[in-house]
Amino acid sequence: METAAFQKRLQDHWTPERRTKFLSGKSFLLTPWQGGELLFALGLLNKDASMSADATRKFIQINHMLQLLLPSLKSLAKSFPKVRVVDAGCGNAYLSFLIAWYFRDILRHPLELIGIDHSQAMVDRANARAVQLGYQQSLKFAVADLQTFSWLTEYHKAFGQIEANLRPHCFVALHACDTATDYALAEALRLKADVIAVAPCCQAELARVWKDQPLAEQHLPMSPVMRAPHFRRVVAADMTDMLRTLLLRSRGYEVTATEFVASEHTPKNRLMLATRRGNYLRAAEQEFNSLKTALGEPILKLEALLKQTGESRSPHA
Ligand SMILES: C[S@@+](CC[C@H](N)C(=O)[O-])C[C@H]1O[C@@H](n2cnc3c(N)ncnc32)[C@H](O)[C@@H]1O
Repeated sequence: METAAFQKRLQDHWTPERRTKFLSGKSFLLTPWQGGELLFALGLLNKDASMSADATRKFIQINHMLQLLLPSLKSLAKSFPKVRVVDAGCGNAYLSFLIAWYFRDILRHPLELIGIDHSQAMVDRANARAVQLGYQQSLKFAVADLQTFSWLTEYHKAFGQIEANLRPHCFVALHACDTATDYALAEALRLKADVIAVAPCCQAELARVWKDQPLAEQHLPMSPVMRAPHFRRVVAADMTDMLRTLLLRSRGYEVTATEFVASEHTPKNRLMLATRRGNYLRAAEQEFNSLKTALGEPILKLEALLKQTGESRSPHA
């Protein structure tokens, strides 16, 4: 669609009344009336420049996610002449594009972002959108499986640089399904990414362990939870994230967990933001071990992967 024609539709649709109603007292970094062309290209705005209820939910999610990432992204831009970001399980790559927009139009700072997904169709579409929006120098998408991918290999293929000691500065995984989050976390930890942001989803691994093991029949303090399907699912998902948090802390990351969008929009709304601070933290390892014991000694994917890769314990090693 012609830029001028779409700008006119944006103006016509987003009347002051509609803007006020849309904002409902909130503030967004990117609004439909300012970032209309980007949002249209991402499929979040209709041809008449309106936004559907589904797209509004996604828009609110990614805007809030970007808001929460801003302090980290700004700090990375101050520290590094070019910031390297990974979007693991990027799917439609809304967040990748928002980050690219923020670096190009707001921070005006060089960025190299690679989005990884095992869906060829998603990756082709994201690359086509990057070209359409003029982001092809800073934004590349590659088909790979998070279970086996190597960031360095994909990065070299995409950006063609070979420097020593290259690492991603920021690793994001938004709603990468179940243990895909753990593969992303393990690779981020192995590479000693400065910032790791994950919004886990469908954390079903621990619930499966509890369901399949006879532990529930034993008289453990957690047995009633393990036996009750609803509580098992909910508690297991929360405990999985707590165990992940402790593993990250033990590797020297400061971790915060926040709700990044109100639960009426999606129940998958936890953002875990980890910032690399320092040395291996034995106290966090001890807490991890105690909690694991209380939960019936499950060995979850992230712990297994970290053992497998033998990733070093000190982030500054
Ligand atoms: C729920 S979608 C989230 C997409 C995007 N991050 C978002 O929040 O809009 C999960 C994405 O992860 C991808 N995915 C899941 N497991 C994967 C794996 N093992 N390797 C690569 N991609 C994976 C899926 O193809 C899908 O696009």
